[in-house]
Amino acid sequence: MDILIIGSGGREHALAWKAAQSKRVHNVFVAPGNAGTAQAYGVMNIDLSATDLDGLLQFARERDIGLTIVGPEQPLSMGIVDAFRAADLPCFGPTQAAAQLESSKSFSKAFMQRHGIPTAAYQSFEQLEPALAFINTLSLPMVIKADGLAAGKGVIIAQTQDEACDAARDMLEGNAFGDAGHRIIVEEFLSGEEASFICLCGENQYVPLASSQDHKAALDGDLGENTGGMGAVSPSPLVDEAMHQKILEQVIEPTLAGMKQDGHPFTGFLYAGLMISPDGNLNVLEFNVRFGDPETQPVLMRLDSDLVSLCHASLEGTLDQREVEWNPQAAVGVVMAAKGYPKSCPKGDPITGLEAVAGEGGHVFHAGTKLVGDQVVTAGGRVLCVTALGDDLPDAKARAYYAADQIHFNGVQYRSDIGDKAIGHL
Ligand code: AMP
Ligand code: GLY
Repeated sequence: MDILIIGSGGREHALAWKAAQSKRVHNVFVAPGNAGTAQAYGVMNIDLSATDLDGLLQFARERDIGLTIVGPEQPLSMGIVDAFRAADLPCFGPTQAAAQLESSKSFSKAFMQRHGIPTAAYQSFEQLEPALAFINTLSLPMVIKADGLAAGKGVIIAQTQDEACDAARDMLEGNAFGDAGHRIIVEEFLSGEEASFICLCGENQYVPLASSQDHKAALDGDLGENTGGMGAVSPSPLVDEAMHQKILEQVIEPTLAGMKQDGHPFTGFLYAGLMISPDGNLNVLEFNVRFGDPETQPVLMRLDSDLVSLCHASLEGTLDQREVEWNPQAAVGVVMAAKGYPKSCPKGDPITGLEAVAGEGGHVFHAGTKLVGDQVVTAGGRVLCVTALGDDLPDAKARAYYAADQIHFNGVQYRSDIGDKAIGHL
């Protein structure tokens, strides 16, 4: 069977790499892909954007694609799964209605409140004056969020009332995040440590995937701006057996039951971004309705089962008959970003050293890259995610950084402490 992966990031390179390992799979197409997917064994790029729903549908129909996996949130929030389902094409992801769990923070906050899923206290606003009045009643720090999709960047943690008021003003009146910021959420600050918990969900069954932890801040020590994610590890030592059960009971099961009850049964990858307090209390920071980037890279490095079969089983309602097998090793992925990320970045810089890494056990997942002739050049903010397995997290970290240190491009920046928080819990 042929597979179509939609998207162009490190997540999609990892999905394509994993799908290509399936014995049932013939060709893996990636729309539009990157230099990594262009060069991967059994994988081919097609020149269609991830948001060209008509083009993608036509391609899938003409090539009789046996399974489409949607990487990023935009096509999901545009209704790609609804369109593929209407055309009787197997497509793994949530419907447009279910994708609101990610595409609208006010939808997901109201949903959580209604169904008793733990999350920070909040209010949502479309007008500045009431937002400013509410800000003046909250203690510091507090969090201001754009309601819509902002690639992980529409969140400001304000340390002063002035900063909070400025953020609200910039979003509601200054167009800081375009339409995404024309409604905002103001919420209480939660302290603790974050973990990512992702499940593969069919209409009536789900399986939890291995836990992971992202590193969202741009700089070492979790300093600097919020980004799409600068590196990830799997597993997260915060999620021990007891915490795993608690997450299923307090978050995943009420979310799946609540979505069904509300008439939007959830299918696809359900990603709960969690804040776990030092005394073990759980809160949901956000839902994503797709696999995380960069969490996908270390999580899929550890998945021994066939991803394509699991997605099919979830579409067919036979997920409960599946055992998911994991490599007991740990994995660490380090994002190598271009100068300036998360702000705009230069493009077109040649990347060297990729060959040196090939034999070392690490895997270089490409994100913002493209091929110019045979040369791989930078083409985005997050450029690569260098990922390695190891006997434990310190070993995986050492291997990932050994590989990352061989790779160079102009202005390259990467954190040097990916995995340290997790290692601190061992
Ligand atoms: P979100 O897109 O809602 O996940 O927010 C992005 C990042 O901002 C999260 O991964 C956290 O690091 C941080 N964040 C969001 N909401 C809160 C909160 N209520 N308290 C503390 N940190 C938060
Ligand atoms: N790594 C966070 C995300 O994919 O949104």
